[in-house]
Amino acid sequence: MLEKLPVYLEEDEIQKRIKEVAEQIDKDYVGEDVVVISILKGAIFFTVDLVKKMKTPIELEVMQVSSYVGTESSGNLLVKKDLDRDISGRNVLIVEDIIDTGTTLSYLKEYLLSKNPKTLRIAVLADKAERRKVPVKLDYTCFVIPDKFVVGYGFDVDEKGRNIPYIGYLDN
Ligand code: IMP
Ligand code: MG
Repeated sequence: MLEKLPVYLEEDEIQKRIKEVAEQIDKDYVGEDVVVISILKGAIFFTVDLVKKMKTPIELEVMQVSSYVGTESSGNLLVKKDLDRDISGRNVLIVEDIIDTGTTLSYLKEYLLSKNPKTLRIAVLADKAERRKVPVKLDYTCFVIPDKFVVGYGFDVDEKGRNIPYIGYLDN
């Protein structure tokens, strides 16, 4: 089923765009260093390629989170893997694979702001902008994508397909 996905973004297009974003990040952090927080599992792929293209000194952290709806209008953050170290007074860059409704990232941002970083910015590989329910300011966006289910380059369907080297979509 995942063998011949229609291609949405080729490997080289992905890498070319990540390079542009890495250069933009470097310009914004001149003379600074940054704690990069990669959000497991999907963002691993993007994070590795992004930080290798950056010149800014980084320290790498990983978190695994998901959001769940508590009551009708409120949601909560479930932290499955938390930070290993203190980020207070540090420049923090969240690296996420995709923003859809915005629920997860908005709760994650709130959670990390409570730890008093010096700055907090967000980089996403893909933004399904038309799906947004909760507004979240994104500092770096590689691709704005349509409302289709994407697979590959970290994106999964029931944990499968993450290692497909390009970004394809489920055609249904
Ligand atoms: P939201 O922004 O809180 O709605 O959730 C974003 C999460 O939904 C991401 O971290 C992904 O795990 C998942 N997701 C949304 N769209 C896709 C997709 O097209 N492919 C794979 N996962 C997706
Ligand atoms: Mg995810």
